[in-house]
Amino acid sequence: MLKVLTHPNPTLRKKSREVADVFSGGIKKLIPEMIETMKNSDGAGLAAPQVGENIRLIVASHKDQTLVIFNPKIIKKSILKEWGEEGCLSVPNTFGEVKRCKKITIQFLNKKGLKEKLKAEGLLARVIQHEIDHLNGILFIDKAKKIKKL
Ligand code: CO
Repeated sequence: MLKVLTHPNPTLRKKSREVADVFSGGIKKLIPEMIETMKNSDGAGLAAPQVGENIRLIVASHKDQTLVIFNPKIIKKSILKEWGEEGCLSVPNTFGEVKRCKKITIQFLNKKGLKEKLKAEGLLARVIQHEIDHLNGILFIDKAKKIKKL
């Protein structure tokens, strides 16, 4: 299990760089560690900068699958947005309402290094948008309203 960095750690505020080689030894090891950390912490998603790696890699739980997403780009998004409650492993015990696109389509590299497209809506779309924000140094508390601390 990896240590999850918490706000205001400066690593969380850096823009992460693209991954050129999804097969590099470091990344091969990082993926299962990130998945384990996400699951053990009851997170719906985790971005590499949260565990101290400023690279564009996110993992997300979706139904019984775990998505491994490199270099995600939102190539289509709905005009329709919706508010929903979010929290973050890097901002413990804090929740707030964030407005996100209801549907998105992303293009990314999968763990085999192949280009893939994914349409997401509802919770998965929210999680992916939240995690992509992490890759750009943005935390949900930057956008949230009605922030509450437990
Ligand atoms: Co987060």
